[in-house]
Amino acid sequence: MIADLVLNNAKVYIKGEIFECSIAVEEGKYAKIGKQPQMPSADQKIDLHSMLVLPGLIDEHVHLRDEGKAYKEDFISGTSAAAVGGFTTVLDMPNNQPVTNSVEALKNRFEVAKKRVLVNVGVYSEFPENLMELSRLRCGGAIGFKLFMGNQIGGLNIDDDQALKAGFRAVGETGAVVAVHAEDRGQVSCSEQHFKKAKCNGVKDFLLAHTEQAEVQAIERVLRISEDTNVCLHFCHITSKQGLEIIREAKKAGKKVTCEVTPNHLLLTSADTARLGMIAIMAPPLRDSVHREALLKGVIQGDIDTIGSDHAPHTFEEKTVGNVWDVKVGTPGLETTLPLMLTLVKKKMLTLQRLVEVFVEKPAEIYGLTNKGTLENGKDADLTIIDYKQNWIIDASKFKSKAKFSLYNKWEVIGKPVKTFVNGVLIMDEGEIIAKPGSGRVIQNSNCEN
Ligand code: DOR
Ligand code: ZN
Ligand code: ZN
Repeated sequence: MIADLVLNNAKVYIKGEIFECSIAVEEGKYAKIGKQPQMPSADQKIDLHSMLVLPGLIDEHVHLRDEGKAYKEDFISGTSAAAVGGFTTVLDMPNNQPVTNSVEALKNRFEVAKKRVLVNVGVYSEFPENLMELSRLRCGGAIGFKLFMGNQIGGLNIDDDQALKAGFRAVGETGAVVAVHAEDRGQVSCSEQHFKKAKCNGVKDFLLAHTEQAEVQAIERVLRISEDTNVCLHFCHITSKQGLEIIREAKKAGKKVTCEVTPNHLLLTSADTARLGMIAIMAPPLRDSVHREALLKGVIQGDIDTIGSDHAPHTFEEKTVGNVWDVKVGTPGLETTLPLMLTLVKKKMLTLQRLVEVFVEKPAEIYGLTNKGTLENGKDADLTIIDYKQNWIIDASKFKSKAKFSLYNKWEVIGKPVKTFVNGVLIMDEGEIIAKPGSGRVIQNSNCEN
């Protein structure tokens, strides 16, 4: 056998242990993992100089935009940011223009993405207006369904419990996941109207409108409505201690529930919103340190299943308007998420094992990405190579994302993704994209019987 690629002198993370070994890749899959003398000859050999090799990281929560919002981000810039950030697979959220919630919109999105992506991309759908279309969306390739509870983006009336229940039932039948943005629309919009009337337009007013209670209430409501529907729920970007406790209890009671946190809510607090101003406005917002500490503990102990960046790019102009109710919510994260978390590992606040679980193993399991998640013969050769000797300073002006600002600008971090292989192809090398747009793959759900 002549392999396409052999990687030598690697420190490879395999099921909780690190092995000094080599990896052979054949047709985009792992063909052999073992000692260098056992490796087949290969067309290309790369010496990794004892750098750390992880199974390719998955960011299950990114807003790649493109189409009508390409001025904020497009598939090329967004997936370049992913590759530079060490992610080999990203899952794209549906609040696009047009909203991804019809078979036609999904198909178009796949067509646009195919020519442009540099890493693997899966695409979420929001709920369609007609639930009859739901199984066609799933069979048409949707990786999961997103439900925004803070404002209505898809076709479900989010104020109507019966409509939500019917939606959950329909997704339950497809076996897909519903990823939930849990903020109670009624509560948030009522406070927002009140503040607007009183001409309270500052960052602190946004935090006062988007309360923990609004999150807790949405989580409780969604859990209650999902009873007897067989749906798998995945709560996105949870931010509150109480929200996490409710999810923990639901898991204990045997419900099919998982949850995600963002690095923002693990590392920053509402004091940072005051310091950073409008650019730190996101929904749900940053909270006080009791919440931050509870969330970090949740990641360490395994109550929180995944970390997603919630990469939400906007233009700097959109982020720096004078009135908080006009500011676009969200902040870029693809190029900072992994280094920030590697720094926690280096500081012994998190184990490497948990890092691989939250970024690789759990997302692969939750989204049914059966060819990903571990370094094993026959699986997709998606690899993230890390240089742990590099202490470096985050510089948002150098981002591949169109959003060239960051809540972590000038932070010192330890550990840098230096190579990203996607299906055996070197996409990013030393921070630069060296492959052509379209080198990544669009992942379409294939768990369909009809
Ligand atoms: O902060 C956020 N940004 N929260 C959302 O719900 C949407 C997202 C975006 O698309 O910008
Ligand atoms: Zn959200
Ligand atoms: Zn989001």
